[in-house]
Amino acid sequence: MYNEIDLDKIDITLGPPAKEPARQYYFIARCREWVRDFEQRNGRVPNSCVTTFGCQMNARDSEKLEGVLKQAGFAAEPDERKADFVIFNTCTVRENANQRLYGRLGQLGRSRKRNPDMKIALCGCMMQEAGVLEKLKKSYSFVSLVFGTHNIYKFPELLSACLDSDRMVIDVWEDTDQIVEDIPSERKFSFKSGVNIMTGCNNFCIYCIVPYVRGRERSRRPEDILREIKSLAADGVVEVMLLGQNVNSYGKTLEDPITFAQLLTEIERIDGLERIRFMTSHPKDLSDELIQVMGSSQKICRHLHLPVQSGSTRILERMNRRYTKEQYLELTEKIRRAVPDISLTTDIIVGFPGETEEDFQETLDIVRRVRYDTVFTFQYSKRSGTPAAVMDGQVAPEVVKDRFDRLLSEVQSISAEVCSVHTGSVQEVLVESVNDHDPSLLTGRMSNNLLVHFPGDASLIGKLYSVRLKECRGFYYLGEGGQIIS
Ligand code: 5AD
Ligand code: SF4
Repeated sequence: MYNEIDLDKIDITLGPPAKEPARQYYFIARCREWVRDFEQRNGRVPNSCVTTFGCQMNARDSEKLEGVLKQAGFAAEPDERKADFVIFNTCTVRENANQRLYGRLGQLGRSRKRNPDMKIALCGCMMQEAGVLEKLKKSYSFVSLVFGTHNIYKFPELLSACLDSDRMVIDVWEDTDQIVEDIPSERKFSFKSGVNIMTGCNNFCIYCIVPYVRGRERSRRPEDILREIKSLAADGVVEVMLLGQNVNSYGKTLEDPITFAQLLTEIERIDGLERIRFMTSHPKDLSDELIQVMGSSQKICRHLHLPVQSGSTRILERMNRRYTKEQYLELTEKIRRAVPDISLTTDIIVGFPGETEEDFQETLDIVRRVRYDTVFTFQYSKRSGTPAAVMDGQVAPEVVKDRFDRLLSEVQSISAEVCSVHTGSVQEVLVESVNDHDPSLLTGRMSNNLLVHFPGDASLIGKLYSVRLKECRGFYYLGEGGQIIS
């Protein structure tokens, strides 16, 4: 792992090695030299700001960016306007995400006038999209570095090139079959961590840009994943979140294929690890084997995020989801039989092209039947570059808005009822932080992903603690402390 490599022993007067990840450590050492020079010239270390948009995968990627910057000697600066190096890790799932990014970039370009040496970098999903590079070159020529999702492991090399150059450094790959292990990474929390198990997606749901910007499915080797989690557990991590666009098809493309359920069984055996979460699951790939493993596991959390997208079989077919409303309902019943106290959450898109009021009623129906703990609701966004953007039957914005509001009020009243059933019970929580609004309170997360605020002091952070749930406040609880479990 990274910590065993002594950056001071790397001779940067020699050329970079060809092999990864050694090559990237060489470039971290070079960036470190740049930082020392900066410090001598300016009497302070340079600082950096990593800004993340989008999903958990991006959040995890940003931890890798932060890890590299920290090792290179940059200090973290939360305010991007005050940073010497700013990187935006972008998302592009919805059409307006790009407009927002350009707006933000324009603002930063203006504050850059006060610090003309500020370097601005862009990476992530949006950079993989056609047309974006041209626009950046034309209208945002002050940007120093642009790279995409496939070569994030090369960040040290690209950072070094960008620090040494006045021109825009660009390295965006179409696709890759490479997975480079053991690049340094920061952890936002000492006691929990995301772990990538696969990248990309092969499903091509027709509204979704992800397969185009994240490429085809690729799984990390189980031995690499297990090694990473063992070392996290040895370092005090008690909860991991296994990340992938479609974790249920983990392992299918490996030389020695293994299933996601088998991987979970191996992870369960790791000493010191107490909780396992994962996301996202595609309903069509969720196997009986996985349900059985979840039912018998001591460590897999009582929470499953299972995006349904629509309750109408007709719309699901148009979306290329490859399951029907009935199959989805059967699946949730099967899961509830195996894991009775499981919390189910989902994603729903309202106003997909061709959606009629009857289709929408089917969505309301599935929401009432499944009784989700939380629903993430999205208005359909006509994402250019996806087949759905040119489909017939685009729904008028006011109709989409009206359905969205009706769905939201339905899911909110159901969630409030579902979430409150635990009132009075004693639950194990992982204590995550001091409460933002009231420092006499701590915030912990239950196995089913709900938050609880309760009195306690910061020494409990990172511990598993039993808490009595006194009062449900819609989507969270107020509780009173009990005792440390581990
Ligand atoms: N419009 C609206 N929502 C979308 N999602 C993905 N693509 C679109 C789109 N074009 C939603 C899906 C997915 C979540 C991450 O984002 O519900 O599960
Ligand atoms: Fe997009 Fe569908 Fe893949 Fe999810 S499963 S990332 S919605 S294509």
